Amino acid sequence: MGPLVNRRRHVVYRFDGPTPEPLPLSGQRRSLVLDPDVVRHYFGGSPDDRSRLRVSLRLLARGCIGTLIVDGDEWASVGWISHPGSMAPPHLTRQIIGRSVLWSFAAHTRPAFRRQGLLKATFRMRIALARQAVDDPNAVIHNDVSINNTKSRRAQLGAGLVPAGQLRWLRIRVPGVSLWTWGVWDVDAEHPPLAEPERDAGPGRAPVLTYR
Ligand SMILES: CC(C)(COP(=O)(O)OP(=O)(O)OC[C@H]1O[C@@H](n2cnc3c(N)ncnc32)[C@H](O)[C@@H]1OP(=O)(O)O)[C@@H](O)C(=O)NCCC(=O)NCCS
Repeated sequence: MGPLVNRRRHVVYRFDGPTPEPLPLSGQRRSLVLDPDVVRHYFGGSPDDRSRLRVSLRLLARGCIGTLIVDGDEWASVGWISHPGSMAPPHLTRQIIGRSVLWSFAAHTRPAFRRQGLLKATFRMRIALARQAVDDPNAVIHNDVSINNTKSRRAQLGAGLVPAGQLRWLRIRVPGVSLWTWGVWDVDAEHPPLAEPERDAGPGRAPVLTYR
């Protein structure tokens, strides 16, 4: 098989406002900070979560901070934020990650829990935890989203982030040999207009987490 080329364009968002208050959660919902025990408890039971379990443990080992909202014994919404030196998110290059102290990534709300403000709630947790971790109450946080992911783009705006340019990146994988990633962040590029929201009919696309 020849090389596999993956060319993508993402829009970037920035959060530089004051650290917001945590959002109240209803019913049996509660928020947790991910550690290996929490990861194994919530992602260890279902075969659907097998790759999430494996990748989450690696992200913790790299020093990333993960936040989770659970409803009783089920997980509902998860998200991660990088820590300086964590070399994450895994799809970005060192040069891009090095231009921001904190990068929020891999947010996912399970379909049954969407449009209930859970992304907003976990993002607020991550802002507070990450700023504490770097000891800077004003640390800027970035995030990138595939240009066609209308739901997530709306969700970022709903969570209080603002547009901060575009990323163009290219990955070339030669099976069994190597993976090469190249990316450019144009901080001045405008975001294309958002398409009308579609109905939330399906499970959406889970972020694919891979490692170089
Ligand atoms: C994107 C995603 C994380 C949003 O999670 P969520 O918990 O539903 O988000 P919230 O409920 O906090 O929504 C915040 C805002 O997003 C927008 N939004 C969320 N879902 C939407 C949808 N289906 N259609 C249109 N707008 C939507 C709304 O503006 C909402 O604000 P509002 O409640 O004030 O109207 C979720 O849809 C998901 O997991 N998608 C698949 C994985 C993915 O794309 N992850 C993002 C990778 S960067």
